[in-house]
Formats: sequence, structure tokens, C-alpha cells
Amino acid sequence: MTQDELKVMVAKEALKYIPKDGVLGVGSGSTVVKFIEQIGLNHVKVPAAVSSSNKTTSLLEERGIKVLDPNTVPGYDVYIDGADEVDPDFHMIKGGGACLTREKILTSMAKKFVLIVDKSKLVKVLGKFPLPVEVIPMAREQVIRTLKTLGGEPVLRKDCITDNGCEIVDVHGLTIDDPVALEDKINAIPGVVTVGLFARRGADVILYATEDGVQVIEK
Ligand code: 5RP
Repeated sequence: MTQDELKVMVAKEALKYIPKDGVLGVGSGSTVVKFIEQIGLNHVKVPAAVSSSNKTTSLLEERGIKVLDPNTVPGYDVYIDGADEVDPDFHMIKGGGACLTREKILTSMAKKFVLIVDKSKLVKVLGKFPLPVEVIPMAREQVIRTLKTLGGEPVLRKDCITDNGCEIVDVHGLTIDDPVALEDKINAIPGVVTVGLFARRGADVILYATEDGVQVIEK
């Protein structure tokens, strides 16, 4: 089975988690693209959504789903998104698609975070996937110097400007033994918008696709 087929499988399974009423939070990335396609193909009714990227917004609107400004939503029940890595404590690395800040905002507003991944994303320790950090452009070099003191190798992502007009620095070569502490440390660097470590607020349910079907683990 290809990774693409696994993504479709988990995307279909995630349809069960869409609330009948209220607002759905929708993440970004190739697995979420499959999820949105499945919403359309299966004619699932989504009364309204909040979106983590301009691309997700377009895909939702193309299917007639109303996308709300999160400022008008006091909170909502379910957020569905993918990740680049997830550990046994449901901590994640996200931001491979450069949407980490909006994803983290929507995560913080949701009662339940349903993670949709294929089995390749499950890891024992986070850090093999380069850790994305969104930075304000005028602070980039100072942020890079500071990130170097934390032990990794920060690299500016080429040709990447986020939906917020910022840049992404990917930190390579980390072994993240204490994700909560590292999230706090990096978020405290002046000029960092947010780090793609989702540890303080991780996932609540993980759906992961394997050749034998979709497995579900709840916290
Ligand atoms: C985007 C993200 C994505 O959720 C993450 O990169 C996973 O993407 P994919 O489903 O394409 O593997 O954090 O910023």
C-alpha cells in the first residue's frame, strides 16, 4: 500500500469525527487535503469551519463550506489535522507545510484534537523531522544564532513565506527529550512567532493508518 493510499484511508475514517452541528477546525497538509476531498466525495455536511491556511480555506470554500474568522468563534469541539511526527505522549512536530502558527491557534481553541497520520509519523522521540520555527523576517539572524545555542542546526527554508508574511527556520539534528521545555524555550526567543512543537497542547485522539486498517488511540 502506498503512503498516499494510507492517507486516503485515515482521511475517510476521520469523517466519523465531524460534529453534526457547530464549527469544525481544519488543519493543513496533504493528509488534510485528502480529508477535505473525502468530505466532498461523501457529501458530509459541515455547517461551518475555521481554517489553518489559505489553501485549506480555498479547498473548503470550493466545496461550499463556510469558513469563519476565528475571531468570531469563542471555541469549538473538534479540530482535525495531520503532523510530521507524533510521540507516545501525543506530542507532535508540525509545520512541514509552514502553517504551524495558525494550526496552533486553532488547536488552542478546540476541545478535541483528532490527529490523522499514516504509521510512518509515529516515533519514539521527536526530532528526526527538522523542527520548524516561524520567525519575523527582521529577527531571522538573531533567532538563528540563539537556536544554535540549543544544539541543533537551524536552516532557513528556501522560497517560503508563510500566510502570516513570515519565514520558516528548520532546526535539524535535534533529539527532543523534553518537548514541553523546548517548546517554552523556543517560543520565548524574541522574533519567534511560534515553534512547531505541539507539546503543551498535544493531540487527544490519534488515528493512524496501517496496511491492516486504521488504528485509534485515545489519551
Ligand atoms: C502543515 C502541517 C501538516 O499537518 C504536516 O506537515 C503533515 O503534513 P502531511 O499530511 O502532508 O504529511 O503541520 O503545517
